[in-house]
Amino acid sequence: MHSMKSMKLYDHVERVYNELRALGLGHDESLEVEQLVAFDQYHYHGTEALDVAVERLAIGPESRVLEVGAGIGGPARYLSAMTGCRVTALELQADLDRVAKDLTDRCGLSDTVEHRCGDVLDGNTAGAGYDALVSLLVFLHIPARAALLSICRDSLKPGGLVFIEDFTKRREPTDAQWQDLKVKVQCPALETEASYRDLLREAGFGAVAIEDMSESWTAFTGERHQAFVEDRERHLAVHGVDIVEGLEDFYGTVAMLYAEGVLGGARITARRL
Ligand SMILES: C[S@@+](CC[C@H](N)C(=O)[O-])C[C@H]1O[C@@H](n2cnc3c(N)ncnc32)[C@H](O)[C@@H]1O
Repeated sequence: MHSMKSMKLYDHVERVYNELRALGLGHDESLEVEQLVAFDQYHYHGTEALDVAVERLAIGPESRVLEVGAGIGGPARYLSAMTGCRVTALELQADLDRVAKDLTDRCGLSDTVEHRCGDVLDGNTAGAGYDALVSLLVFLHIPARAALLSICRDSLKPGGLVFIEDFTKRREPTDAQWQDLKVKVQCPALETEASYRDLLREAGFGAVAIEDMSESWTAFTGERHQAFVEDRERHLAVHGVDIVEGLEDFYGTVAMLYAEGVLGGARITARRL
């Protein structure tokens, strides 16, 4: 099995500190969530997607939210800062979780955002009765989709809501495209929108609504790659060649998989029955 670090978004995650240094912010300085959002959102459309989640899940100060696959904590911090909600931010990779904790501390949000390092498939969140679950571009890494969805259901109170963003399969990948998906994107399996809908129903979710994000995400990933290439000299000065070449290859691979019509996107809301 290839390491998660062969997906270059997850390698050298401490590069966020390079960005802060470029803004003149040292290691011990306190931070505002707004200073981080350009660098700490590992999904598409940054905080705009989170604003949609807040609205669709009616997240407010009383909400207890589970975030599955929290990355370096950007979504959890933003959700809590915007609404006053409490977030449990679960992240598999220890280095990402460490950076997430540090940034959350420095934003003064440790009372409302709890970072936990672990695998969602261990099922430790089951029975916790969360009001809402948010998971952005995480499920693509987890082929045991039925088991995953059943743990998500069990982590919610009855009537609790989910907001999931994930890849979908629009066209069967070629062998070479599967190789890129499995190694560079750490995505070993894809669902179609229709099979996703079935899985959600079988796992005990109702009111399933799936918004097709394919066109929007094709445009986003293409523009992200182009902007990164155009700003290469700046990125080299801030991060050095290893990080820049890794990210450029990752952004380029993902943009191509969308542009070639293989990948699509789903923005899913559903309710635990
Ligand atoms: C593309 S990143 C998105 C991070 C965050 N949701 C965001 O939007 O900024 C996906 C994250 O899911 C995490 N992840 C993958 N499999 C996981 C699992 N089984 N349990 C918990 N986290 C997982 C990865 O380590 C990675 O940090």
